[in-house]
Order: sequence, then C-alpha cells, then structure tokens
Amino acid sequence: MEEKHHIVFICEPGQESGAAYAYSVLAESDESLLETARRAGVALDAPCGGKGTCGKCKVRVLSGSVSTNAHRAEAGISKQEFEDGWRLACVSCPQSDVKVSVPETARAYQSRIKADGQFENAAFTKLREKLKPRGQAPHGGVKLVNVDLDPPSVDNPSADRERLLQKLSETNRVTNISVYALRKLPFVLRESNFSVYCVLRQTRPDEFTVIDVFSTKEKPPVIAGLAIDIGTTTVSALLVNLSDGDILASGSTGNAQIRYGADVINRIIESSKPGGMVRLNQAITECLCHLIAALCKKASGMYAAVTEGQIYRASVTANTTMTHLFLGVNPEHLRLEPYTPAFFECGPLRSDLPLHPEADMLIAPSIGSYVGGDITAGVYSSMAFNTKDISLLIDLGTNGELVLGNNEFLISCACSAGPAFEGGGISCGMRAADGAIEACVIDANTMEPQIKVIGREGQKPIGLCGSGLIDIVGELFRAGIINAKGKISKDGERIRRDEWGTAAFIIALSNETENGKEITLDETDIDNFIRAKGAVFSAIRTMLAMLDFDLNVIENVYVAGGIGGGINIQQAIRIGMLPKLPSDKYHYIGNSSLHGAYSMLVSREAAETIQKTGATMTYIDLSTHSGYMDEFVAACFLPHTNGGLFD
Ligand code: FES
Repeated sequence: MEEKHHIVFICEPGQESGAAYAYSVLAESDESLLETARRAGVALDAPCGGKGTCGKCKVRVLSGSVSTNAHRAEAGISKQEFEDGWRLACVSCPQSDVKVSVPETARAYQSRIKADGQFENAAFTKLREKLKPRGQAPHGGVKLVNVDLDPPSVDNPSADRERLLQKLSETNRVTNISVYALRKLPFVLRESNFSVYCVLRQTRPDEFTVIDVFSTKEKPPVIAGLAIDIGTTTVSALLVNLSDGDILASGSTGNAQIRYGADVINRIIESSKPGGMVRLNQAITECLCHLIAALCKKASGMYAAVTEGQIYRASVTANTTMTHLFLGVNPEHLRLEPYTPAFFECGPLRSDLPLHPEADMLIAPSIGSYVGGDITAGVYSSMAFNTKDISLLIDLGTNGELVLGNNEFLISCACSAGPAFEGGGISCGMRAADGAIEACVIDANTMEPQIKVIGREGQKPIGLCGSGLIDIVGELFRAGIINAKGKISKDGERIRRDEWGTAAFIIALSNETENGKEITLDETDIDNFIRAKGAVFSAIRTMLAMLDFDLNVIENVYVAGGIGGGINIQQAIRIGMLPKLPSDKYHYIGNSSLHGAYSMLVSREAAETIQKTGATMTYIDLSTHSGYMDEFVAACFLPHTNGGLFD
C-alpha cells in the first residue's frame, strides 16, 4: 500500500482571525494540494476550477517536496516566486510530508467582505421609506403577542390548545397551532402561570397559526428574519428584527463553491460529476451556516440575544444556477439546449439551514436560465416596475444582467461579461473586501496613481475590485497611457514589459502593499476587462434595437452590484461601458438583490409583487439574437469603434 504523506496547512493571520492557525491531513501522492486542502477544511480560491490558469490558488511550500517542477509565469508564478516556494495548489501533489503556508488572499471561504458600510445602511433606510407608503407591514407576517389565560379548573377543563386558541381569537383570527408549538405548550403554560408569548405566522390575509410559545418569565424573545443573497462569487445576508424591520446584523463572505469554479458554467459542469451535486450543495450550505452563526453572534453582542432558532422567516435571492444548487436540484439542463431550468418558481419551503423548525423560506422566482431571482428582486427594490418612466437596470455581478421597461412591460437578458467586475480573470483582481483598491486617479504627466483602499485607516492595498478596475482603465485611457485597443503606449517608471513584450502598469509598488507584492494591471487584464465592458454595452444596444427604442427614451439607469464603493459613472461612460446619458439619470443602488430579499422578508406584499414580476417579465436569449455579436465586436474598443456614440 502506498505511503501517505502528512500535510500541514498553516493559514496566515488575517485582520479578522488575528492569529495563524493550522490544519493537518494525510494525502496520497496523486492528490493535489487543492483537493487536500478542501478535505482539511481549508477553502482555497479556485476560480478556474483547478485548471492551473487563474493563479488564485497560490500557496507557499515551507518544507517538503511537491510534484510541480517549473514556474508558471502565465498563472502568475515568477521564477523568483517559484524559488521562494510558491506553487499552484491545484497542480501540485505532495511527494513527501509537506508544510504549506496559505496566504489570506488565497482563502475563498474566510475572506471578509464589506457589507455594512455607510452606503448600504443608507440604502436600507431609503428602501424602508419606499416600503412604508405601499402599506407594507414590517413583520412579514410573523409577530409576537402576549396572552394571559385562565388556568384550567373543574368548571373549565378545556384542553390547553383550545384554551389558547379561544383566547387568541379575541384579537386575531388564529386557527391552528403547529406540532412544534403544541409539544412545548403544556410545559410553558404551567411554568409561566398561564401567561405566554406566542409567535404567530400569517397564513392568509386575515388568518394566523401559532408556531412557537415562550414563558413570560423570560424577556420577550427577538423574532428574527434572515434575508440572503447568494451570488456566484459573494454571499451576503441580513439578520432582521421582524417586529420593526430593523437590521440587527449584516455580513458577507465568499461563496465557498468558488473552489469548484468561478462561474456558473464551471459549477454546472462540476455538479454533473459523481458526487458533484452534493459537494456544491454542501459548500453553499456550510458557507451559509457560518454566516448565520456570525450574524447571530454579532447581533447578540450589540442587541438582545439572538440564536438561529429565533429565525422564523427567511428569503433567498440568487441567480438561476445558484438557486438550483442551493436547493440541491440538478442544474445540468441549464447549459444544454434548449436551456431549461428545473423550475422558475417554488412556494415557501422548509430549508436545511439552522433556522427555527417552522421557519418559512421564500425563494425569488427566476425568469430564464441566466436571469434569476436576484434580478426579479432587484427590479422590485429599484421600483422600476412601478413607474411610467422607462428604466434600465444593470446588475454587475459575476455576470451582467439587464432589465429594460416600466410598469407596462419588462424585458431582461444576461450578457457574458465574465467575472471581471468581481475581480475574476484579472491577475490582481479581488472581491470588494478590505484591501481592495476601489478608486484611483492617475496624474497624466507623471503617471503616478492615487488610490483609495477599502478598509480601516492605513489599510494597505492587496488587489483591485470592480469599481477600482473601472476607474483605473478609465484613468489610463484619459491619461493616454493606453490606446483604444487597450495596449499600453507609453513607457516610464510605472510601466514594465516582460520578455514577450506584454506591458503592465504598476498600480502599487511592493513596499506599498499589504502582502509585499506589487499590484499591476497588464494588457491581458485590460483585454479581459474590455470584453466585459463590451458585453454590457452591446447588450444595452441590442435590447434598445429590438424594441426600436432610441437611447433617450431611458429616464433612469439603475446600476447595481457589490463591486466596491460605488461606480464612477463618468469613467464608465468614458471607456464605453455605459451609454452617454446625463449623469442625473444614473443611480448606483448597490446590492439590489439583497435589498429585494429584505423587501420579501419584511413584506408579504413585496414577496407577492416579486412573484408577479417574475411571471410577467420577458427573457431574451442574446446568444440566439442576430446582431448581438456585431454589437459586441464593435464595443470591444475604448470607448467604441463608433466614437460618435460617446461625443
Ligand atoms: S490556478 Fe489553481 S485553481 Fe486556478
């Protein structure tokens, strides 16, 4: 029998963890360090799905030997780094006992993403204001009431259940008690001298069921709800007090499925491998379990104690593939002609997440194979469905999705923008987390950049997120450092060319960064970005052309997506990503999918409207639309082959 090797993964300290921690596991000689790390519970970023091309799974071998025997410049490992022990975990197998250092930047699962900044808080305050005049109850149909009962006696020996229902019916139409609540009822009633709190869930417009009971000897429990947005790259969630709609805690984390591929196509391929469906479902479930526990802890540190068992209602928004994988439904047919999902809608469900056993989970409906519930929810939160004015919603996530319309019609499509806006396919790209460059200005004479970094004061940069990328490409173009094809046309201290002549712009020197590694943007990155922005612009043009609409019919453009600290609209227009419209027509609305999930959670009426929106929106498959490819090719220049569109 072949000898197994002892592998130790040492996770470098991050800002959240504060200390290094280690995992050890046994591995065979033909198992990659990426696979071994997964078994050990260390989730490494693997956007290319382990093909050795993205360079994100870079780890450092501290001792022992592994199978890779050459550096891989194309995947971001230079000769010097190779000599220093850096390897791609996905193509390196252990040949002896090995000790591996895992940098924080390689960890998909643990990375912390900014989700509760000032922008998000202000956005939720605004959303709640919008919900009020629509007559929406803040509790989403779950509420806590206090009732005092007469104890049973010889003259009144009715059963506990009937006694409670009769009393409750004096103020609410309560017709039933769940089995869970029924099992607790006799003990809680007697322990509290027949004075109890009841958690009621609305089952019809004027009808409720008791789903939990508590003794009044304790403080009234918080009745919590959970809104979740499952993005392909990032998962965000809110813990909400259902009695008033207040947000108790918010947070985000990387989608742990990223270790199986960066985009939905790679995830679908993985799901069709033996055991793949279970792996993907487990990855997202574990990821959410950690996030829910973290939110409860955060809320309990600031407000009253909240446990997972106090979450009585949940809502989920996600793209079509993520919804399938979250529910454990095989998404295979989404990528096979005629591209049919297993479902668009599903009613309230019980989930596998650690919530109250009676908690309802609502899922936002999908519209097509590549336009999902995140978009129907986003349309709701933008209120684009509710005005006569024609609006355009652009959601920049791991893919780009667009909706055009008003209160009479809505059409939607997806464009294959790729993951560039969330840092994928960009050598120094990263999600909008601490250490991400989110904005930049470049001096046209000296070529010196001035950057703005997400994080605490003094935070040094680690990489580039979507908003930073848009800014830097815009600034490089404005300063004449890159030409219309995205090629670097100047030389200087900030420009480096490799042995094959590929040029790179140095955004931060090694002594200016958090991890001592230069942050650069090379011509391959710029090329990837130009294709991403070209996909967005050509989708807008195609939708308008299909309806025979002029650009000027658009009254509002809502730009959504957690790509950083907002988006510099002027830069996005300069590079030909967004159409040239007056700047007051543009509104950056942040994570509209999470805002929609919040609306579904706190408002039954919002949840119904989102269902109706999903059922009436038209989905267009751009890949089958003649003219789209021509538009795309024309848009793959800065700003466009038809410069007149941006004069
Ligand atoms: S290079 Fe290893 S996962 Fe992409």
